[in-house]
Amino acid sequence: MGGTKKDIEAIGKTIDKLYTGHCTGLKAYEILKGVLGDNIEYFPTGRSVTI
Ligand SMILES: [Fe+2]
Repeated sequence: MGGTKKDIEAIGKTIDKLYTGHCTGLKAYEILKGVLGDNIEYFPTGRSVTI
């Protein structure tokens, strides 16, 4: 499954904070990074988050 850059940017605009892993893919990650800035973080294996 994929989407156009415009589709991915539109999704990014609906998200406040996103942790993503390798399944997102580097290309989509970079598009989302352009929308979300510091509100997207790559989440590799072994990382933990306290909520
Ligand atoms: Fe994955």
